[in-house]
Amino acid sequence: MKKIKIAIVGFGGMGEWHYRQMTASGLFEIAGIYDISEERCARARELGLRVWQSPAFIAIEPALDAVLIATPNDLHLPYVEYFAPRRLNIICEKPAALTSGYFDIMNELARKNGIVLAVHQNRRWDPDFLTVKKIKEEGSLGEIYDVESAVTGSHGIPGAWRKERARGGGMMLDWGVHLIDQLLQFDNSEVVDVDCEMSYAEGFEVEDGFCLRLKFASGLSARILVDTNCFINRPRWRIQGTLGTAVIENWDRKGEIVRVKERVDRSLCGVKAGNGYTRTMADRSQSTVERLPLPSVEAEEFAFYKNFVSALGGGELAVKPEEVSRVLKVMGISTLGRLPVKI
Ligand SMILES: NC(=O)c1ccc[n+]([C@@H]2O[C@H](COP(=O)([O-])OP(=O)(O)OC[C@H]3O[C@@H](n4cnc5c(N)ncnc54)[C@H](O)[C@@H]3O)[C@@H](O)[C@H]2O)c1
Repeated sequence: MKKIKIAIVGFGGMGEWHYRQMTASGLFEIAGIYDISEERCARARELGLRVWQSPAFIAIEPALDAVLIATPNDLHLPYVEYFAPRRLNIICEKPAALTSGYFDIMNELARKNGIVLAVHQNRRWDPDFLTVKKIKEEGSLGEIYDVESAVTGSHGIPGAWRKERARGGGMMLDWGVHLIDQLLQFDNSEVVDVDCEMSYAEGFEVEDGFCLRLKFASGLSARILVDTNCFINRPRWRIQGTLGTAVIENWDRKGEIVRVKERVDRSLCGVKAGNGYTRTMADRSQSTVERLPLPSVEAEEFAFYKNFVSALGGGELAVKPEEVSRVLKVMGISTLGRLPVKI
């Protein structure tokens, strides 16, 4: 099969990651890179890559099929405005745009010029998220009514541009976009309530974390917690159903499902709790529950790239423009605090 000849614009952390992944997939020929940083250009040369001096050279590169945009977030729109009319297909890093309105412009440019614009929402294929979807499919927890999705760490906001509002910094655009996308994939009913609190523990102009609560028309409540000043991590996922609870501790999918066998615990007795006494919150007799391993999932390797290649041949995009737009709308609303909505 002919490889897709692609140029990389923005050869930082993610640009280099794509270079490695695309090469490993065997689906792409990396034609070269463009980056404004001399250091990153030197790194690309070290890896044996061609380095262009201006995006104009990309536009005139013979037989080029596509461009990957992996620059800071504020530059995604201008680069799509530059490359789409030159009929180059585009993979754009997330968040596709700073607002859903900007994404509409990008999408319209793609449509008008007949190119594929694929947004890299790669975390749809994360094994931990696929496990969450499988738990729902298998129904082992009964009706799932509450989901907590948390990504926590203690290294603060990385790099320079992620600390600047105008460059599309902040943890909502950085991590929120992935985690909201996952939840909207998990439950495709309307979002009817959005409530968000940002945290500024580090004192930058952008949020270093947030707690976003979403209520879905299905009745599901979900919380997304992102914290970059957290020295004891939270579990990655906590899922509450009418029949039990599942916890996925981390990306490696350590965790378990605990499911009720006998609702009434006949051996229940009160216990000392702090300065008082409780029966309600006493530990359950282990004979009344069962402990199940997390279901196993197969994460297809290079699924996003394979879908991009198929879309170039007329196939449907896995990450649909209307889905990207919906995530950006939820993010936009979340900056306003609490609002009843229909998204
Ligand atoms: N999908 C994911 O899992 C994932 C993970 C990390 C980052 N990202 C996204 O990838 C993009 C890049 O993030 P990163 O972590 O690689 O940042 P980074 O700072 O490491 O890299 C950005 C690169 O863009 C270059 N750049 C800046 N202005 C430019 C311009 N005008 N033209 C060309 N290059 C320019 C910088 O010199 C730098 O090398 C962001 O949109 C980010 O949200 C996605």
